Amino acid sequence: MTSAAVSPVPSTPQIEAANFLNLLIVDDERSIREACREVAQSLGFTALVADSAEHAYRLLETQSIDAVLLDLRLPGAGGLEALRRIKERRPEAIVIVVTGYGTVQSAVQAMKHGAYDYVTKPFSVDELKNLLERTAGHLRLKTENRMLREKVKSKQGFGGIIGRAPEMEKLYRMIAKAANSVHPVLILGESGTGKEMVARSIHYSGPFRDKPFIPVDCGSLVPTLMESELFGYVKGAFTGANQTKDGLLAIAEGGTVFLDEVGELPVDLQAKLLRAIQEKEIRPVGSTRRISINVRILAATNRDLEHAVMQGTFRRDLYFRLNVLSLRIPPLRERRQDIPLLIAHFLDRMSRDSGQEKLLSDKALKAMLAYDWPGNVRELENCLERTYAFTSGPLIHTTDLPREIANLPVTDAGNGSSHREIVPMAELEKQTILSAIAELNGDKLQAARLLGIGKTTLYRKLKDYAAQP
Ligand SMILES: Nc1ncnc2c1ncn2[C@@H]1O[C@H](COP(=O)(O)OP(=O)(O)OP(=O)(O)O)[C@@H](O)[C@H]1O
Ligand SMILES: [Mg+2]
Repeated sequence: MTSAAVSPVPSTPQIEAANFLNLLIVDDERSIREACREVAQSLGFTALVADSAEHAYRLLETQSIDAVLLDLRLPGAGGLEALRRIKERRPEAIVIVVTGYGTVQSAVQAMKHGAYDYVTKPFSVDELKNLLERTAGHLRLKTENRMLREKVKSKQGFGGIIGRAPEMEKLYRMIAKAANSVHPVLILGESGTGKEMVARSIHYSGPFRDKPFIPVDCGSLVPTLMESELFGYVKGAFTGANQTKDGLLAIAEGGTVFLDEVGELPVDLQAKLLRAIQEKEIRPVGSTRRISINVRILAATNRDLEHAVMQGTFRRDLYFRLNVLSLRIPPLRERRQDIPLLIAHFLDRMSRDSGQEKLLSDKALKAMLAYDWPGNVRELENCLERTYAFTSGPLIHTTDLPREIANLPVTDAGNGSSHREIVPMAELEKQTILSAIAELNGDKLQAARLLGIGKTTLYRKLKDYAAQP
């Protein structure tokens, strides 16, 4: 009999665990750097390499780094000094030190100075793999704990974002990561997928949540107004500029400016925005003075910006600037398992707001599950809001839903005809009663109450149905 307990290959969850984690490998020996890079990448890490401490510091300034593999015997700076400076720049980053054979003492020193673990040269691929897997697990746990803390803080999860589909879980990890970086983030998603919600969530789960979050709709203003909104103006800059006004990029000081529909920004403003981001300075309209700014830029678009770049309507350099980290929110039709969750969430909110509880009939729910939701969560929310307002009884039927949803051929539609069925009143009543009871897990008293009929009537009708052939 062979043993089934031993698994010789790393399992998928471990590979998953390292996804979206950035590892910086600092070693002056090229062959070691490359070997480590290969192992790290095979585990799902994004690996960056530096051949000196100085090179590593430069990368730490511009890249978001989760973990560092640091050779303690670098030429130039002493290893411990490098460790200290890395920790100073990125206190959150996990540092694993690499020591030479017989210098365990230096590893002990390094651990005292905040290193997470060490490995002795020469090491095997398996040794390194184990260590990196452990690191990934630790980092993931840290992120999860942080997310959990945020959740408790807001009591609402990621700013109330609903969804348990794997793509959404991935999104939450990315949000947690983005929240703790200062770089621009580009949020991509079809209309109504929750781009603004995600932007708020990034801001409010980050360290500068007490500073302003200012959304700017780049598509809604005429270009000249847009410029003065973003950069501000001085008195007399143009007719009607009766007094100096600060721009939103200055008002958001220390916080976040969310550039919604950034793809709509006119080309000349794109150039000005790029300069503002790069130089951290703006020049108000009509002024000769530059003002320094300190804001975090989040941008969103439902347009294909890469395509716009190719067509010349969006600046390539700005695209790269904004796209340091990008998050894609999947459309609702790609995560149908979230539809019931969202429906429950919205119905719950509406019944709390109106003080009147309403439920969806089984068929209505099926129709909603079958629909494609081109307008995504926003369309679902609007649809429920309208339906809620116009349905008088406690149960929402298929016929109460908008036509495009009600008319969908649902698999068990009855007679197989693709026409909307015409159902006799008695049958409708029967369906209503039975589905209410089913929805309420068999609670007949509650069903009678919600249907607005007496419990004796309900029992009589049930007896009739049971007697029917
Ligand atoms: N995952 C979600 N959970 C709960 N509510 C959501 C979710 N996604 C979106 N919503 C709700 O749907 C509506 C649209 O969201 P939001 O404005 O963030 O989307 P958007 O992508 O910016 O849309 P648009 O492109 O139309 O501006 C909001 O009322 C928001 O509260
Ligand atoms: Mg929006």
